[in-house]
Amino acid sequence: MTRPKVLLTRPWPDQAQAYMQAHYDTTVNMSGRGLSKDELIAAMINYDAICPAVTDRMDSEILSVASPRVKILGNFGVGYEHIDLLSAKAAGIVVSNTPDVLTEATADIALMLMLMASRRAGEGERQLRSGGWKGWGTTALMGQSLEGKALGLVGFGRIAQATARKAKNALGMRIFYSSRRRVAVEIESEFDAVYIESLEELASSCDVMSLHIPGGDETFQLVDARLLALMKPTAILINTARGSVVDERALADALMSKNLWAAGLDVYAHEPQVYPALLDLESVVLLPHLGSATVETRNAMGLRAAANIDQFFAGEPVRDRLV
Ligand code: DGY
Repeated sequence: MTRPKVLLTRPWPDQAQAYMQAHYDTTVNMSGRGLSKDELIAAMINYDAICPAVTDRMDSEILSVASPRVKILGNFGVGYEHIDLLSAKAAGIVVSNTPDVLTEATADIALMLMLMASRRAGEGERQLRSGGWKGWGTTALMGQSLEGKALGLVGFGRIAQATARKAKNALGMRIFYSSRRRVAVEIESEFDAVYIESLEELASSCDVMSLHIPGGDETFQLVDARLLALMKPTAILINTARGSVVDERALADALMSKNLWAAGLDVYAHEPQVYPALLDLESVVLLPHLGSATVETRNAMGLRAAANIDQFFAGEPVRDRLV
């Protein structure tokens, strides 16, 4: 029996890629760049499955191609803002993602950003490397302690809950959250988490606000100038979710005018571009979308995408099916 033809739009970590190559007629894009729209359209006609990543915009033009051969998009990642699900559904193409496996790694990055931003670690490292460090000083580079501070989580899904657990246990923070739906009391009591119905109230009362909501039309620039203005001038904003959730210009303005103390970002609205004013600000820590970037996690993501592809071609229900 001929094996299904599968395209990996990027090289995968060794273990996951080896699995795909052992089980499928697998092509890996080794060009070192993302595939162009034309290349993705051609792939729609030439492959049975495509495994895109966050950098591949699978829009309606690509997904509406006439007579596609592709039957499943096994996304390498949990977020799917870059895939037009409605067009995929209309074309009868199954889409899956990789939840669970990157929860802890992403929560680690949220915590790291909280620590780096609150302790001015990026600023300190830049100072040292540039030769500007004049030695230990009684008032030099004073940051803020996080112990006992209020962490406001926007969204309370898997990654937010992992962040809450780590922030509570490791840093002694108090947990508050706002989300579309209140979670069960047993889950709240696991973190001593307090539900705050209004996002505005959460923003105005917390010391650190961390975003854990998906990108998309509903959340586009949810954190805008109005919400930022409600935050304390001593507060810190953390974003490990999606760049589109924050109005980056308004964030830069708030930091510049010292209406917000600091920010820690791992994601951007137009990756790999970063809103230029942010690059000049000492009070913002900028990471290059590292949320899931560990060998263990990236292999687990590949193997989870592979499991979805396996289930699809075996005619079984696809565990992480989105449409
Ligand atoms: C995801 O899986 O959505 C991540 O953002 C990629 O690291």
